[in-house]
Amino acid sequence: MPFPQERPRRLRRTEALRALVRETELAPSDLVWPLFAAPGQRVRNPVKTMPGVFQLSVDELVAEAQAGYEAGVRSVILFGIPTRKDATGTSAWDDGEPVPRAVRALKKDVPGLVVMTDVCMCEYTDHGHCGVLKPARVGAPGTDLVVDNDLTLPLLAKEAVAHAKAGADVVAPSDMMDGRVGAIRKALDESGYQDVPIMSYAAKFAGAFYGPFRDAAESAPREGAGIPKDRKGYQMDPANVREALREVALDVAEGADLLMVKPAVPYLDIVRAVKERFELPLAAYHVSGEYAMIKAAAERGWIDEDRVAVETMLCCRRAGADLVLTYYAKHVAGLLSGVRR
Ligand code: PBG
Repeated sequence: MPFPQERPRRLRRTEALRALVRETELAPSDLVWPLFAAPGQRVRNPVKTMPGVFQLSVDELVAEAQAGYEAGVRSVILFGIPTRKDATGTSAWDDGEPVPRAVRALKKDVPGLVVMTDVCMCEYTDHGHCGVLKPARVGAPGTDLVVDNDLTLPLLAKEAVAHAKAGADVVAPSDMMDGRVGAIRKALDESGYQDVPIMSYAAKFAGAFYGPFRDAAESAPREGAGIPKDRKGYQMDPANVREALREVALDVAEGADLLMVKPAVPYLDIVRAVKERFELPLAAYHVSGEYAMIKAAAERGWIDEDRVAVETMLCCRRAGADLVLTYYAKHVAGLLSGVRR
């Protein structure tokens, strides 16, 4: 018997053989495309730290979503750049603001598209936090402000109901307040939106990968007396996996329909752990910093952007993600379906 006896290479000889034994598939319909809805008309503001990503007025956003749809992207998630910001983020549930307007326009003009909306306060508050600020200990002078959990819940619920009313197919809370999935579920049900699913950003980590997004959404925490300088008081510590499973279990118990882990690639162990323990569909969010790193290396000619982008999404799928949220959605869908634009 010639050595070696085992020859795994036999099944790698041709592309047809490789395709036959491939364990994971990546399809355009697995991808969700984040888009930034801005006020105005014919607005296409490039985001400096995210080449290829724009703040889009509703007319431009619909055209972009249509182009994505033609490349095979069947789902978008919307973020808002509102016309006004205040301490409690009241523009978050204002029907005349870009997100509800974009939802209505998309449902009308691209009816086959699944329209998700991000539900959070950071884009709408003037201090940039994901909830309402209040002094850490009432009556203690000079103490810092904290994001108050229970004052924030009804505001998130109002925002989710406003998005459902506009026609959103899925609402996706990303704020990391305790109890928000339950609060949103209850508000949706009481308003007649029992059939609108919730995709919870169940395990969202307070890491350094969201910087470019905060440029895109103009949502970085503002510097000021007493204002927390980061989101570590509500988003998770990157060191924790057991806590991530607890967060997921709570969201499942509160009625989440889809789960998400965010960021994606540095957190694929979390994706795998969640996949092994929970039955709900699972999304991974390939976030702005991950996107920017690929773009930057590609711009220098140091990596092959197309191959790295496709491989990245495939690896998210292999780790256990059913869906991948990515700024590369249209591009990768185009590569997969042979439609380049
Ligand atoms: C809103 C929100 C953020 C992201 C998605 N929803 C920003 C944040 O938590 O600061 C980040 C997405 C990305 O970086 O691509 N809370």
